[in-house]
Amino acid sequence: MAWVFSLVLFPVAAQLYEEPGSAFPTPTVESNCFQDNLADNQVYYQKLDQMFNGSSDAICPKTLGLFVNKPCTWAAGKATMTVAPVINQCHWAIRNFHWHDSSDEWSYMVQGVMQVILTSPTGVPWHSAVNTIGPGGVWFFPRGWPHAFVCVSEEGCNYVLTFNGPQAVAVNDHMIAETYAQLPDKIASYSMGMSMGEWATAKPKVAANTGTFFTRVDPAKFTWLPEENAEPAAVNRSDVEVEDTTPGVGQGIQVFNIRTAQFPFATRMSQQRIVFQPGGFRNLVWITNAAATMTVISGHVNAATQGGISGGFDQGPSSKSYVAKSLGPYDAFYFPIRRGYWIEEATGTEPAEVIVVFEVGNWKALEAKTGFGCSNPVGAPWAYEATAGGIECPSSPELIQRRNLRRHEPDAQSFMQQPAENPEL
Ligand SMILES: *[C@@H]1O[C@H](CO)[C@@H](O)[C@H](O)[C@H]1NC(C)=O
Ligand SMILES: *[C@@H]1O[C@H](CO)[C@@H](O)[C@H](O)[C@H]1NC(C)=O
Repeated sequence: MAWVFSLVLFPVAAQLYEEPGSAFPTPTVESNCFQDNLADNQVYYQKLDQMFNGSSDAICPKTLGLFVNKPCTWAAGKATMTVAPVINQCHWAIRNFHWHDSSDEWSYMVQGVMQVILTSPTGVPWHSAVNTIGPGGVWFFPRGWPHAFVCVSEEGCNYVLTFNGPQAVAVNDHMIAETYAQLPDKIASYSMGMSMGEWATAKPKVAANTGTFFTRVDPAKFTWLPEENAEPAAVNRSDVEVEDTTPGVGQGIQVFNIRTAQFPFATRMSQQRIVFQPGGFRNLVWITNAAATMTVISGHVNAATQGGISGGFDQGPSSKSYVAKSLGPYDAFYFPIRRGYWIEEATGTEPAEVIVVFEVGNWKALEAKTGFGCSNPVGAPWAYEATAGGIECPSSPELIQRRNLRRHEPDAQSFMQQPAENPEL
């Protein structure tokens, strides 16, 4: 019922806070660490142990892993997205209120239960919202919207943050505690709704938090607030995910999508989750309107981008394959916009799971199997033969029938539709 209501509300609310043109990435501030020597810096994946480790165990005894990919070694400093796995945000640890200037934030919960608090700068679609999500749940925070989140489960919380902006701007913009610690007392007490006397007592505590990512909620003071159900900013998997049964996406895999169509609040980011049987693979695909990042959730995978980022007259990188072997949990791969990629389970004996997060709300996929080659029902076999190094298409009766249908049937349109264009998937 709540969900139906949200779908009805969405068109009105979205108009008020949505930036126009969101079918394509919103322009972001560029990273300031481009590598001059593009050819020597074409690295597209980063393993967890190569990432920047910004952890501190001041709040969570036993290590809080707060990782972020190093921008200058990822896609020659030109990656438009950032991945930040967080491991063991312990029970009652809260990520301090903050926001990001230039990146929206997507998160995938790997373990634990998180309560998230998000504030709208405009009061639309609500002033402030609280939602609680468990494993497999996701959240979306628009850029510039203050947020905090507290781990409310004893086992602690592990999650993968993905930003649709380069690392240089995504990590840690505007911690509200810092701002308050630096304000003149008159301004600070007024904006906190306190007397000068009350602020004089409170201020030292604020200052003590300056610069830290995490603090701790006092469990004795914690209360469960009513959840925002009309247009939630954080959602459990079972409320949003849909299985993608498009033919040709791979073998030995199950694919699950969350686009804006399923998660209306997430206007500028989206996710495909892929579950691999041993040896299964996600077939070659080109995303035509967005870059993407893949993060491994469990098991091990091999993955590649077919072509890296070219620069100027250096055409080399766009015709190379950049392959990563045996990526494990929290290792991440950046797929530049319109470069093909494939992913396969690496061991042949174990299952695996990954998420692929896109920098738009509705990614467009050109699947290699249905978009190209002999099995493309609208293909021109002679063209493939000529341009693909002499590959001869087999003349199976099914393929011949499909091509004939395309020529003669009045409703041939239906064959020509890209299955992945369907926003319901
Ligand atoms: C990250 O840093 C923390 C704090 O220094 C440390 O305890 C932890 O072992 C580091 N994690 C990794 C994977 O290196
Ligand atoms: C999502 O799941 C968690 C537990 O995994 C639960 O605590 C929470 O209430 C759920 N939220 C909604 C909106 O159903």
